[in-house]
Amino acid sequence: MLNTKVHELLNSQINKEFYSAYLYLEFSNYFKAKGLDGFANWYMIQAQEERDHAILFYQYLQNNNMPITLEAIGKPETGFEDSMAVLKAGLKHELYVTSLINDIYAAAYEVKDFRTMQFLDWFVKEQGEEETNANDLISKMELFGSDQRSLYMLNQELGTRVYTAPSLVL
Ligand code: FEO
Repeated sequence: MLNTKVHELLNSQINKEFYSAYLYLEFSNYFKAKGLDGFANWYMIQAQEERDHAILFYQYLQNNNMPITLEAIGKPETGFEDSMAVLKAGLKHELYVTSLINDIYAAAYEVKDFRTMQFLDWFVKEQGEEETNANDLISKMELFGSDQRSLYMLNQELGTRVYTAPSLVL
């Protein structure tokens, strides 16, 4: 039996992660329309990872015999000024998700819910990686985005990203 607040936050995180997937699908859509297939591929895989995150929260609640309430997924942000605005929106979103994970962790810590804290440890690490990835993309775009040949190379590099299932198995 999980604490009510911890349960609510974990349940809400299912929706937040699906929203993340939706947001990154929108990013992928943006870059596809610009002819930057590598960037589109990178965000498509990011969307798949976010879907996996949502399912992990879902499974964790199921494994603990807790009820799950699925809510509507919000319309993703659109209308970006340029590619850099998309990348910056990605970083801002990841920082927000990190704050959400931290909030759940703090709630679990308060009630000595060590099982949930252990489950969340993987996400704490994952968020560190996601923030690094988002920052790296911004740095690369700052360095190479204004030169067409360099942008082509960066697009090629991002096109090589492949999907891997999450290392956390419940
Ligand atoms: Fe599931 Fe990008 O955090």
